[in-house]
Amino acid sequence: MVKNEITAQNLRSAFGGESQAYQRYLVWGNKAEEDGFPNVGLLFRAIAYAEEVHAGNHFVAHDNIEGDFLVASGAGFGLGSTTENLAGAIAGENFEIEQMYPTYYLVAREQQEKDASLSFHYALEAEKIHSKLYSEAKEAVEAGDDYQLDYVSVCKICGHTVKDGTPDRCPICGAAQEEFKEFRR
Ligand SMILES: [Fe+2]
Ligand SMILES: [Fe+2]
Repeated sequence: MVKNEITAQNLRSAFGGESQAYQRYLVWGNKAEEDGFPNVGLLFRAIAYAEEVHAGNHFVAHDNIEGDFLVASGAGFGLGSTTENLAGAIAGENFEIEQMYPTYYLVAREQQEKDASLSFHYALEAEKIHSKLYSEAKEAVEAGDDYQLDYVSVCKICGHTVKDGTPDRCPICGAAQEEFKEFRR
């Protein structure tokens, strides 16, 4: 599995970031429901699951080793309005898209860490879509509307996230349609 310490550190860091994003999105999803935006709540719940997939992928790409490890998170902290929470979510996703995953991926490639580079690649591609979905949701909420959607599908293998239409095959990892988990109200 993972042989190089820098990639191992990056896996632990990414595991920490994704684990925290998972929890944060569930809290922010509850708040969106309270604020009268149930579809935004649904989006937060679905994307929380995608982050759970990423955290799990990073975890199993890492060797089983003993020790205590501190993991950091690059995103904001605490509860705001749903608009503020969506802005925080977009900032966190964009940090991962622009800074974190491209560099983690390149380092893992350079170190010929196959499992880690695949795990970082899956996350990078899925986060691009998360940023877009959250941006659309934020626009709707700022206009006083809920986000328009019927259901959200998330690939259990790579965390790819799709609104209103499960693909025949995952465009990121190639998984079959049955590998998608659907989130509905
Ligand atoms: Fe994400
Ligand atoms: Fe996938």
